[in-house]
Amino acid sequence: MAGDLRAALRIRRNLRAARPRPGVVHLNLTGRCPGRCWHCEKAGCGEGRDMPAPALEQALGLAETFGCRLSLAGGEPLAHRRWQAVVAAAAARSRGVDLFTGGYRLDRLDAADRALLAEAVDQLFVSLDGATAAVHDRLRGVDGLFAAATAYLTAGPRPRQTWIVHVPQPDCAGLPDMIDLAADLRCGLVVQPLIFVSSFPDLPPAPLKTDLRTRLPQVADTARRHVEAAAVHARRRGLPHNLDEVAASIGPYCAHADDGSWFAAHTLPRFRCSVPWQQVTVDEQGRLQPCVFLPAADGPASEPTAENWWRLATDYRRRLAAGETWEACRSCSCHFGVNWRNSIVMHPWVNRRGLAALVRKRLAVHRFGHRQEA
Ligand SMILES: C[S@@+](CC[C@H](N)C(=O)[O-])C[C@H]1O[C@@H](n2cnc3c(N)ncnc32)[C@H](O)[C@@H]1O
Ligand code: SF4
Ligand code: SF4
Repeated sequence: MAGDLRAALRIRRNLRAARPRPGVVHLNLTGRCPGRCWHCEKAGCGEGRDMPAPALEQALGLAETFGCRLSLAGGEPLAHRRWQAVVAAAAARSRGVDLFTGGYRLDRLDAADRALLAEAVDQLFVSLDGATAAVHDRLRGVDGLFAAATAYLTAGPRPRQTWIVHVPQPDCAGLPDMIDLAADLRCGLVVQPLIFVSSFPDLPPAPLKTDLRTRLPQVADTARRHVEAAAVHARRRGLPHNLDEVAASIGPYCAHADDGSWFAAHTLPRFRCSVPWQQVTVDEQGRLQPCVFLPAADGPASEPTAENWWRLATDYRRRLAAGETWEACRSCSCHFGVNWRNSIVMHPWVNRRGLAALVRKRLAVHRFGHRQEA
């Protein structure tokens, strides 16, 4: 809870400060990805480019200057040509490293790579979209991916906290199997409801998303019931999870997928978006984004200091604070968790129904951290 309080206080200060101080630097290390996932615009981007070295250096400098956490994603971060050097530098120059991977090559790491990940990364997030090889490999379009990820997760060493990130099918029926798998692998579980606009602002949405968006309202009640039941099951299995916060939004999220009112009418009044006030987001071209879903601002890579770089996001912050929303906000289930947490801490009375769930989650993470060290 102390970390939650610190994050909320930082946002409160940043809302007024002329010189805001970020808490996280999030990097799309590379646009390259060997994945062919059903739900992602990067599918088939095998030949994408790595983030230019000067921009990477700028971002590491920013994390160092402000004592931030660093979050490494992509594309596929382990497809970056020098990922080992980047991970080592990130650990040395930040307050902690989170790494998001689709699991590619995890079974081919040598002992030195495994030791590097285990020591340099605090939180490893491994995507698993199905609880069996047949389902997961089909959804991600790569044979052997499930076996690679689970082989890595079963053999030691690995980072202190390891999470499975799961994008459920629209009706969320498969959650109990994912909970059991995560518990058996001694991982936490992050359920990431399907984003139905493009996950990358420079790319058009994957064609199947339009169809999904029109189907989501039909499964809203079913999805809500499945998520609520899954939250109970996950508590019984004793793993940390985010199902309470997903349960707080999944019904209206699906019901209003097609009319666009989930974020502005149902979320914003209680759960303000705080992402641009706490996170510096840099795309694989080294450009500053207000958040992963919104287009990059012009020219930040040429800014001489890291601090100026961060302050360039001011315009978006002003517009967001004035109540403006963008098409991408309609489907921003990805940042709902952090906005849910910050809103509860900043306005505990208004959001008192979520307080018990937040405390439960923190206790579970605490117990989980210790168990993984054992
Ligand atoms: C963009 S990927 C980058 C890291 C890595 N390539 C991976 O797959 O984990 C980060 C996360 O976004 C998720 N994601 C991609 N497209 C999505 C969508 N349409 N809806 C929900 N999550 C999505 C992925 O499943 C993954 O867990
Ligand atoms: S979800 Fe990750 S692995 Fe799959 S295509 Fe997108 S970036 Fe690649
Ligand atoms: S897409 Fe909208 S809601 Fe999501 S993080 Fe960006 S500004 Fe916030």
